[in-house]
Formats: sequence, structure tokens, C-alpha cells
Amino acid sequence: MSDSSSNQPSSGAPLERAAELIETATQARLRAQAQFSQFKVGAALLSSQGQVFSGCNVENASYGLTMCAERVAIFKAISEGVTEFEAICVVADTQTLTPPCGSCRQLIWEKCGDIPVLLANLRGDSRQFTSGQLLPFPFDRSSLTS
Ligand code: THU
Repeated sequence: MSDSSSNQPSSGAPLERAAELIETATQARLRAQAQFSQFKVGAALLSSQGQVFSGCNVENASYGLTMCAERVAIFKAISEGVTEFEAICVVADTQTLTPPCGSCRQLIWEKCGDIPVLLANLRGDSRQFTSGQLLPFPFDRSSLTS
């Protein structure tokens, strides 16, 4: 799935600030602490008010404590009082674009709603999905009603 000649989205309108989000996620990726997997990921989360929150993965010797780049960005934003989001971008150094893991898909869906998810690598490939496409038939607060 390493598309893409022209950043054509598979769904939704192309993001106006795609290049900026990719650059922010690329820079954040350099700060990743991935000493166990060597797999560095960067994320950039665009709020509805236009702020951009970055994130990188942070690994720990107790592996299960690892936090993904996307979740770092989302938690940073929420902790700053920002709760409305427009898009998220994920960057890794892979030929096949790196999609969010299952936990991150759940969190993106629950905290950001159905937003564009822009995936990019360091070779200039990118492709846009929506969080709804990446997590069909989700469990969320609407599932908690009997
Ligand atoms: N990782 C992310 O940061 N985001 C994802 O969605 C996929 C996985 C990180 C977690 C771990 O530090 C490394 O990539 C390898 O799984």
C-alpha cells in the first residue's frame, strides 16, 4: 500500500495542512525512544482551533509500558485542555506506510471521532484514510447503553 504519487486520499478531502503535519510528525519521530524495537514513529495531531500537537513513541524496559506516538499526541492535547480534533498524521521509516495499532485506532476514534488519518513515510509516500475506515463497527460510549 505504499501509494502514492500525489497524496490522493482514499477517502475525504485532502488535508490543507498535510505537508506541515508530515513535517511535524517527522521531526517528532526523531525524538522517539525506541531502544528496544528500533522502530521510531512520529505523530502530529491537528486541533479544530489549528494547534498542532506532536508525539513520538516512548519505550520502556518493562515493554508493556510503551506508549505509541499517536497516543502521546492525543494525551498531550487533552492534558492542555484541547478536545476537538481535525486530523492526525503518523510517520515512520517504512516502505509500506505504517498504520496506527489497534489501541491507537480505538483512542483516535473515541477522542477524535471520524477524522482523516494521514500516513506518511520518509520517502515522500503518503495516503489518507479516515479513523472510521480504520476501525469499522467500533466499541465506544454508544455501545454502553443497553
Ligand atoms: N508504534 C507507534 O508508536 N504507533 C503505532 O501505531 C504502531 C506502533 C510504536 C510502538 C513501539 O514503540 C514500536 O512502534 C514498535 O511496535
